[in-house]
Amino acid sequence: TSNAMWGGRFSEAPDALMEAINASIAFDRRLARQDIAGSRAHAAMLAATGILTDRDAEAIREGLLTILSEIETGTFRFDSALEDIHMNVEARLAELIGEPAKRLHTARSRNDQVATDFRLWVREACDEAIAAIEALMRALLAQAEAGADWVMPGFTHLQSAQPVTWGHHMMAYVEMFARDRGRFADARRRMNECPLGAAALAGTSFPIDRDMTAAALGFDRPMANSIDAVSDRDFALEYLAAASICAVHLSRLAEELVIWSTAQFRFVRLSDRWTTGSSIMPQKRNPDAAELVRAKTGRVLGASVGLLTVMKGLPLAYSKDMQEDKERVFDAADALSLSLAAMTGMMADLRADPERLAAAAGAGFATATDLADWLVRALNLPFREAHHVTGALVARAEAAGRDLADLPLEEMQQIHPGITEAVFDVLGVAQSVASRRSYGGTAPERVREQIARWRAALG
Ligand code: ARG
Repeated sequence: TSNAMWGGRFSEAPDALMEAINASIAFDRRLARQDIAGSRAHAAMLAATGILTDRDAEAIREGLLTILSEIETGTFRFDSALEDIHMNVEARLAELIGEPAKRLHTARSRNDQVATDFRLWVREACDEAIAAIEALMRALLAQAEAGADWVMPGFTHLQSAQPVTWGHHMMAYVEMFARDRGRFADARRRMNECPLGAAALAGTSFPIDRDMTAAALGFDRPMANSIDAVSDRDFALEYLAAASICAVHLSRLAEELVIWSTAQFRFVRLSDRWTTGSSIMPQKRNPDAAELVRAKTGRVLGASVGLLTVMKGLPLAYSKDMQEDKERVFDAADALSLSLAAMTGMMADLRADPERLAAAAGAGFATATDLADWLVRALNLPFREAHHVTGALVARAEAAGRDLADLPLEEMQQIHPGITEAVFDVLGVAQSVASRRSYGGTAPERVREQIARWRAALG
């Protein structure tokens, strides 16, 4: 038989494959709660504007509450012949309350309905991401507090660059994740307009109150253009863009954990809770969780490119292509929330090894810049010349298999006669980090200020 929702002009049932390609209930059932909230707001508004009787609206309200509890207790029967979550809910409502159910769709289309449901879902995903990011920021902050003055190598090109502090390195991630949090908050603010009442695309001839439904659903206002309201998926794209950048940040941190936890680095030890063993190599403690956080980035970035690709050639207004927006957003949100939680767990348990960090901090002539700066300050050499002299000193030390601090003064003086005993004061890593007191720099006092600012901000 033909479809109960729109079967009036059809005489044949859809092909089985038509149903397979068309049905979205397998995934959009995740919008059930939002769909019911949207319908409740819509029904209440239809009653308030006199489009529905209070009696019908009340029957609808009660029926929807029953459906909500059926969904929450897992007794709701989802049917793919009914295509999507909207028709599944409406069909069940008709079973429960009969005729008034058929009045619910007055002044509404699935186009504004799905746009509303999905916006509500993505808005919640923004809130969840913000909370999860804050938990991670707190874990990073605790790491920074524990090791605000632990010296470690700072890298560029993954080559020894200049010594930094563990706290400074942790706080770099706090800043990065704070921007991610800001991006989710910005996206949320922009998406918080209500499409409901746009109907199919042109609005409706019924005297609806869009301000009322918008307010009931926690939106700041109704969307201003009904064509835009049903065509727009910017909100999902912005969510995915914010998620992509956040996932990339997580992946960079995960990569550092993978490197740092190797036997060759041993900067950190991941807890047993966040590592796995090997079935053949008894010594192994593999950083699987960090590797998977790194890998799940692919899902999030894939979702972002995928949805941009779905949207890029669509004429206004709604096209069925847009049904393909949901799965990838759900998948990205799942991957992001798991990754944020796993990273928070790893960072909460992580033990950095201050001795190993300190021992590595000076490797690779990491205080060469301090030496060059000393030549500028003590001997008034132009920096370019100081750089050249220091380069020669490094080459000499390297040829002798020594650190800069182990070069005898006489040998240094062969390269530049002005060098004095005082140069040795700047060659230690602790002195090096302590000297970098510029705003945002690695000196422990600056790092403690950064930590204090974030402690106050995060509460
Ligand atoms: N399941 C559809 C979607 O996700 C709902 C909207 C359907 N609208 C329509 N005109 N066929 O996009």
